Amino acid sequence: MEKRVFGKTGLEVSALGFGGAEIGFEGASADTVATLLNAALDAGLNVIDTAECYGNGAVTSEELIGLAVSHRRDDYYLFTKCGHNPGFDLPDWDPKMLEMSIDRSLKQLKTDHVDLLQFHGCPADLMRQGDLIALLQRARDAGKTRFIGYSGDNENARYAIECGAFDTLQTSISIADQSVLDTNLPLARQHNMGVIAKRPIANAAWRYASKPDNGYHVTYWERLHQLGYDFTGSTDATSIALRFTLSQPGVHTAIVGTTKPDRWKQNAALLNAGPLPQTQIDAIRARWREIAPPDWVGQG
Ligand SMILES: NC(=O)c1ccc[n+]([C@@H]2O[C@H](COP(=O)([O-])OP(=O)(O)OC[C@H]3O[C@@H](n4cnc5c(N)ncnc54)[C@H](OP(=O)(O)O)[C@@H]3O)[C@@H](O)[C@H]2O)c1
Repeated sequence: MEKRVFGKTGLEVSALGFGGAEIGFEGASADTVATLLNAALDAGLNVIDTAECYGNGAVTSEELIGLAVSHRRDDYYLFTKCGHNPGFDLPDWDPKMLEMSIDRSLKQLKTDHVDLLQFHGCPADLMRQGDLIALLQRARDAGKTRFIGYSGDNENARYAIECGAFDTLQTSISIADQSVLDTNLPLARQHNMGVIAKRPIANAAWRYASKPDNGYHVTYWERLHQLGYDFTGSTDATSIALRFTLSQPGVHTAIVGTTKPDRWKQNAALLNAGPLPQTQIDAIRARWREIAPPDWVGQG
């Protein structure tokens, strides 16, 4: 698996990472997650991304990851997030809640530190006040995380990049989410930030013959419908979508989410085809420019 230098952090991250939202929200079993993650780590995965709030009320994504791979903690970089209240009697972004949430994440992940702790979509006006960023920096100084990052999109992400406090940016980048390619991605690159592409295959929303029941997949399904790319009906769709995202200058890792034990290895094999040819990248960019209205902004 190709490794890329993750901006100013200097970490060498696998081009294909693992996104931990699906396992939490879809209630994957501990056995499934253990099989999935251990096989992927054996095959070259070294980025596992999760968050404080990925759960469906039973077991959380962080707990599943802790159970599955904490025994081999040196084999991967562990990224989590904070800001949303994961069940305490306090509002989102409350400083006390944030402190409790960070400690809860470490406990659930069965580790004494993560490699990256990200603000989970913090609004710019809260970041401007400074005390929340200082809280994140204190968590880093206390050794709870090696680096700090921002996860989010559009104007909030722009503030996070320009304020200079964060080492990394996690943001939506895909064939169905391209506005970032002309805005925040080049800016993050100028700031030498590590960049994580979230939702990197647009939820594979081309899978659905009709509007998906899963509301989270609807926006990309509708966009893809209008974009009408000629490849989304073919067996190459995932390969082209994933390689498009990973071909964008400044993207270091694409964290595809899945609950399927063999998926990470299947998707890793797609990368053996190498970078997407420039003619195909240009055609996808041209189609987007032709079709996308200004309100097709980055999806959270
Ligand atoms: N604000 C935030 O911080 C934020 C927001 C959204 C996402 N994220 C992060 O980004 C990660 C990725 O986002 P995501 O999971 O929403 O989107 P995604 O990676 O673009 O899409 C995941 C979906 O694609 C399917 N899939 C994967 N490989 C496939 C293949 N080869 N063929 C067909 N379908 C395939 C998966 O289904 P199967 O289960 O069938 O494989 C899953 O439903 C999340 O897990 C999370 O870590 C962060």
